[in-house]
Amino acid sequence: MTATRIDASKLAQKSEPFSFNEQQKNSLFAQLKKQRGILSQSDISSLCQQYEVSQLELQKACVPVASLFSVAPISKFYVGAVAVGLNKQGETNFYFGANVEFSHQALSLVVHAEQSAINNAWLNGAQAVQKIAISDAPCGYCRQFMNELSTADSLEILLPERDFNLHELLPHSFGPKDLGNEECLFSHKQRDKQFAETSINDEKLVQLALNAYVPYTGNFSAVRLSTYTEGDFYGSYAENAAYSPSLSPLQSALSQFYLAGLTFDDKTVKSITLLETQGAENQYEVAKSVLASFENPPAFEHCVAKLVND
Ligand code: THU
Ligand code: ZN
Repeated sequence: MTATRIDASKLAQKSEPFSFNEQQKNSLFAQLKKQRGILSQSDISSLCQQYEVSQLELQKACVPVASLFSVAPISKFYVGAVAVGLNKQGETNFYFGANVEFSHQALSLVVHAEQSAINNAWLNGAQAVQKIAISDAPCGYCRQFMNELSTADSLEILLPERDFNLHELLPHSFGPKDLGNEECLFSHKQRDKQFAETSINDEKLVQLALNAYVPYTGNFSAVRLSTYTEGDFYGSYAENAAYSPSLSPLQSALSQFYLAGLTFDDKTVKSITLLETQGAENQYEVAKSVLASFENPPAFEHCVAKLVND
């Protein structure tokens, strides 16, 4: 029997990818909690310099840090995702995301890490998402969620072992166009919509509701989660052509809240406000189910508004 020769030069070429040690991970985690799960272009540049890595290596190394934000009391399976996108100023940002599960409620209410990262980018001014690095292969539901993006045709999915394009992972796909919808998530369509008089005097909440991505129901809706000492967190409704992977405004706001590293309890969360359009009140029951998963849920205000000229 001849022994298999090992080609030492080939082995030498395949070096381990860069990863943070525990202390580096914890320090980045602390920074991210303060920055609500976002790294700016200048943060990215200084980290690349500090660790002598490329932006791509840094993005991949950030994935285990994203997993630290996961709230997974049911599965204990901690998924992390880091989306990269350009903001309005054309600067590159990293948008972190992690899965969020709700005890005692339907498993289908879970927010997947990919949704959390993309929602983080969408709510915080990214113009598009070009790449997303994930700790595990994206499930079918996430592949479908990502197929709603303006960049679905070119989206790169970076996994620990190898990289893919979305269309490699989702061939012969179903998407917005199948329903005659020319819009997509991040298409930044200029809307001239307005609410008639509402009792809400929070312009940010109103704008988020009006800019919800609701091509399938017209259920313009948004949520504000107010805390006692940590400020407010917002979420907006993002629909999907296949309906099920749609992200409700409360799930969206909660995933933002968890990206600040906070714990949902009555000492932290003061109130939840849901604003949605009259005639399409789809969010009220979903919000109630999600909130029912918490002990001592906070005050819940439901505001219904009418669109002008509707
Ligand atoms: N999970 C994700 O966050 N992304 C995926 O694509 C795979 C699954 C989460 C959902 C749930 O919290 C846990 O992993 C087990 O499925
Ligand atoms: Zn998924």
